[in-house]
Amino acid sequence: MRPRAGGRDCLLLAVTTALMLPTRPPGSWAAHIIGGHEVTPHSRPYMASVSFQGQHHCGGFLLQAHWVLSAAHCFRDRDPKTGLVVLGAHALNTSEATQQVFGISAVITHPEYQPTTHASDICLLQLNSSAILGPAVGLLRLPRRDARPLKAGAPCKVAGWGFVSDFEESPPGLMEAEVRVLGLDICNSSWKGQLGPAMLCTRSGDRRRRGFCSADSGGPLVCRNRAHGLVSFSGLWCGDPKTPDVYTQVSAFVTWIWDVVQRRSLQSGPLPRTAGIPAGIA
Ligand SMILES: *[C@@H]1O[C@H](CO)[C@@H](O)[C@H](O)[C@H]1NC(C)=O
Ligand SMILES: *[C@@H]1O[C@H](CO)[C@@H](O)[C@H](O)[C@H]1NC(C)=O
Ligand SMILES: *[C@@H]1O[C@H](CO)[C@@H](O)[C@H](O)[C@H]1NC(C)=O
Repeated sequence: MRPRAGGRDCLLLAVTTALMLPTRPPGSWAAHIIGGHEVTPHSRPYMASVSFQGQHHCGGFLLQAHWVLSAAHCFRDRDPKTGLVVLGAHALNTSEATQQVFGISAVITHPEYQPTTHASDICLLQLNSSAILGPAVGLLRLPRRDARPLKAGAPCKVAGWGFVSDFEESPPGLMEAEVRVLGLDICNSSWKGQLGPAMLCTRSGDRRRRGFCSADSGGPLVCRNRAHGLVSFSGLWCGDPKTPDVYTQVSAFVTWIWDVVQRRSLQSGPLPRTAGIPAGIA
């Protein structure tokens, strides 16, 4: 596993795929972002940006006023104490009155997260204070515990502040792409049988490249107004149909998520900083 260029170690490469491909800079053949468009500012009020040293690093979404859901790999080799969560943003680098900025009290990584296989690539971020909900900051719901799996072809949307080109250009504002669920069997074949059961894949739905890119990691895949996936990994080239985009399948983790939120919300008083599984020890 190698980080992509620029230290944004968000999208991990499958080693076998990397070996099959000629060596070129990541994503250098995809002409554009992955077929997205800028959304109306603040129309996705659940979107969170996780930043380190003032640089956007990963996405996530607001689940409860104190809780953001993101991808576990975003916090490998990172000290969460130095990270910030920004809510209510559209153009990250501008000063927007709607932005709310939080410290991270704890990162609770799924105990079965495996960096090499990307299994259980999910974590909860506990914010150091409560988000104030309003027009620009809101919650996104999880799928139901007993939700039927999404059918292949089902329409979904993925949003993020990730690169919009292979030249690591930042987007003008929050971007979103419409994608379609790809059957796990087909996706698993494309990935040479490396996928686990709690994963979800998407494809563009037509001949254009469309999907996520570096620094979109952790952001939600929204289908039927619920967060069905979390951006986990893709291939060397953003939007390349040969290595379909892979997400953590959120419905498989709903019980774990609510257990963590309830257990920790019951604890009274200030929460210990070191509680949970600190990021970076995996
Ligand atoms: C934001 O601005 C800073 C300082 O001008 C720059 O270093 C950084 O790359 C910019 N980030 C984005 C996402 O444009
Ligand atoms: C939370 O963290 C942010 C960023 O480090 C800081 O500015 C803010 O004062 C903290 N709030 C509380 C209530 O500790
Ligand atoms: C993917 O394929 C491999 C090899 O055939 C298999 O072991 C694995 O269970 C498959 N994964 C899923 C989610 O079906």
